[in-house]
Amino acid sequence: MTRPLIIAHRGACAYLPEHSRGAKALAYGMGADYLEQDIVATRDGELLVLHDETLDDVSDVADRFSGRVRDDGRHYCIDFDLAEIRMLTFRERLDPETGAQRFPDRYPRVAGGFPVVTLEDEIRFVAQMNRSTGREVGIYPEIKSPAWHLEQGFDLTAAVLRTLERAGYLAAGRKIFLQCFDPPTLKAVRAEVGPTLPLIQLLSSKTAITDALLDDIATYATGIGPALALIRGGRDAQGKHRLTDLMSRARSRGLLVHPYTFRADALPDGFQCFDELLELFIERAGVDGLFTDCTDRVARYRAAAGT
Ligand code: G3P
Ligand code: CA
Repeated sequence: MTRPLIIAHRGACAYLPEHSRGAKALAYGMGADYLEQDIVATRDGELLVLHDETLDDVSDVADRFSGRVRDDGRHYCIDFDLAEIRMLTFRERLDPETGAQRFPDRYPRVAGGFPVVTLEDEIRFVAQMNRSTGREVGIYPEIKSPAWHLEQGFDLTAAVLRTLERAGYLAAGRKIFLQCFDPPTLKAVRAEVGPTLPLIQLLSSKTAITDALLDDIATYATGIGPALALIRGGRDAQGKHRLTDLMSRARSRGLLVHPYTFRADALPDGFQCFDELLELFIERAGVDGLFTDCTDRVARYRAAAGT
């Protein structure tokens, strides 16, 4: 059985607000192999470790800067300077449809929040933790909406690469994967940086996985990051979970497979418990790594399975 890498999805965000320093420190201590960073930009060209281009669902921006919205009523990171965003408090995610906490049993919004983290802050934090523990935990940045950022007048990809280069992450052998949903972005990165930087092509559940697509990905990427539904194929006549053929098609092209997102408190339909999900993906599919909100649960499973 492959020993899958544990990629702490937004940190140990099942327990502390996503992308907070606390969530990253917790995931580190729980045994993550990589910490994930979603990256968006500010007006003054700083890089934030945040999932959304907007601030509304994870911070108190509406209370502090109520007039600074676009036509859709949302506050955009790229309309604020870092100094302003540092004034905000980041909390557990809200569901904008219901106005309630997205994952109700997670860290309570009323318990308070945490400051924003920049990509530079996070890289420094990982380096310092690696120094003090003697471990080598990697980083797993995602370039968020590169085309949208370009429309706003900001080249996010170039800025991310500059930051990674300054931190030495473009050198061969560093523990990093760079991920993106946008194929042209990853192709451009590959052309600029070469094969030393491992790239992961993210694939949404709606992507049509043709052979031509996989052949193309294999020309520039180290692996794929598919949604869970692209690997899990429902149930067979006996009621047993089925797998799609994506694993073997990726393997035959030499691609690693890092599916997302494993959440104990938001199981896909048809699963009774988290370990059932892990058994399917780790023991039967044999994935190379997995994005999880629950680093501790996957680390425990991996240890018990003897991988
Ligand atoms: O990056 C892997 C996974 O995180 C992609 O989904 O929306 O959580 O960034 P998202
Ligand atoms: Ca991500």
